Amino acid sequence: MIPDLFADIASPEPSRIEMAEGAVLLRGKALPLEHELLAALDVIAAAAPFRHMVTPGGFVMSVAMTNCGAAGWVTDRTGYRYDRNDPESGKPWPEMPASFLQLAVEAATEAGYPDFRPDACLINRYEPGARLSLHQDKNERDFANPIVSVSLGLPATFQFGGLKRTDPITKYSLHHGDVAVWGGPSRLFYHGVPTLKDGVHEKVGRMRLNLTFRGAL
Ligand code: SIN
Ligand code: FE2
Repeated sequence: MIPDLFADIASPEPSRIEMAEGAVLLRGKALPLEHELLAALDVIAAAAPFRHMVTPGGFVMSVAMTNCGAAGWVTDRTGYRYDRNDPESGKPWPEMPASFLQLAVEAATEAGYPDFRPDACLINRYEPGARLSLHQDKNERDFANPIVSVSLGLPATFQFGGLKRTDPITKYSLHHGDVAVWGGPSRLFYHGVPTLKDGVHEKVGRMRLNLTFRGAL
């Protein structure tokens, strides 16, 4: 018999959690690529710095954002949209790094969306106290594409609801390296991240970084 050498280091939690029909949480999926992802994030943030955007209603968002890929999600007083250029510089967003694309495609495939090829990656930076209220991702052209969402750094709570804002919400803890994917019947489900608790992550520091991959154009 071959001894099970890895039994004692196996994660106590299942590595794949079905959140809803079409929605899965892949625990630790991004860990093998963490160094590439963090190095690439530094390069992106140097070219297109994180900024606190303004909502159409005039509120400054507590989450700081930047983008990479062919298009980036932006908001200002005129509304939410995808823009091929960074409005701060007028230049195209930084290219999507190969490690980002690889992770997004692998995670989407594992979740049942093998044809997903993202053209946009919104990068959210949460510092302690930042939050993202319950919303739907609906500025994308084709809802056949799932959303792939990668968590790095400090842990957060992910609220995942239903098609109506008032539908019951389930909470999941999101840790460094976790990847959530929602599409198909749950593509337009409400979701949000309540206030980030203070802390320091050994690799990322006093923040949480979130990458969300979309098919935007
Ligand atoms: C988002 O909804 O764009 C981000 C979700 C997250 O930060 O986990
Ligand atoms: Fe979202």
